[in-house]
Amino acid sequence: MIVDVDTGIDDSLALLYLLAHPRAEILSIASTAGNVPVDQVAANNLAWLDLCKAGDIEVTLGAQTPLLAPLMTTEDTHGPQGIGYAELPVSQRKLSNRNATNAWVELVRERPGQITGLVTGPLTNLAMAIRIEPALPRLLQRLVVMGGAFHHPGNTTPTSEWNIAVDPEAAAEVFAAFAGLPADRLPIVCPLDITETMEMRPDHIARLAERAGSSPAEVIADHHAPTTRSAASNPVIRHFSDAVRFYMEFHRDHDQGFLAHMHDPFAAAVALDPSIVTCRVATVDVELAGTLTRGTTVADWRGMWGREPNAAIATTTDPVRFFDDLIDRVGGMAERLY
Ligand code: RIB
Ligand code: CA
Repeated sequence: MIVDVDTGIDDSLALLYLLAHPRAEILSIASTAGNVPVDQVAANNLAWLDLCKAGDIEVTLGAQTPLLAPLMTTEDTHGPQGIGYAELPVSQRKLSNRNATNAWVELVRERPGQITGLVTGPLTNLAMAIRIEPALPRLLQRLVVMGGAFHHPGNTTPTSEWNIAVDPEAAAEVFAAFAGLPADRLPIVCPLDITETMEMRPDHIARLAERAGSSPAEVIADHHAPTTRSAASNPVIRHFSDAVRFYMEFHRDHDQGFLAHMHDPFAAAVALDPSIVTCRVATVDVELAGTLTRGTTVADWRGMWGREPNAAIATTTDPVRFFDDLIDRVGGMAERLY
């Protein structure tokens, strides 16, 4: 897999899940500017690899800014460093000598038809890679994208989702590049419609800590002061709990409840097993010029535009099964590591 992230709290759990999963072979982690600036994204990626005692997995630095739009970040959602209240030790690992775009291009050329790409951030670096290697969509085995919103409100503007809204031009170029692939090779798109049903609640964190054999019981509560920090004996649980509590407070403060939408770990689970979703094929494009709607994904489900389909949009899944698997995998890894 090539994993392209804007780490971020939910990106962090996606990385933990992939590091914990026996079927995931991470060839490269691309850092893309989004939730926080790209240098911070890269530092977060390196630090999570340290915490998980991961092997020598390549982490690349991506573009500082989107293709055209000025960089937009969201520290109010993910915290000043993008990992909520967590404070991870600074890693001594070195970033790759090649940048994210070149890693995409070189890896798909080296391993044609073998790599699944997972993007849980803006599509800037993937779009730049496709500009260099137009055959990239056919050289990938599959692409999974967390992004967009179709029959669902946006989380960045009333109609746009963050990963697309940060770099709409990149998203438009990526979707266009995948037009005409066979239905089973089209990008699987995980939009807010489905990812906002992945509601992580305090009970999930308690179960995660228990699965990891961490003590004491991990309790995240709505009334806890912002200065509260986890006392979990297991470092993976402790740091992720501190990260996700910031995200739960953000959702609470935006009237969504004391919970956290686990967009990116869900997309990671789809990348490892597409059978956990049902999809509908469509032609997706991105509004670029709308004064109110720039960054909005539009799906033509019925061929009104007369254009080839370019996406398989995930429409249904089983959230309970997803969380059971996530908790078992990440909790099990945490227990093995510490
Ligand atoms: O809209 C949700 C997406 O935007 C997630 O990937 C989150 O991490 C942010 O990147
Ligand atoms: Ca993300």
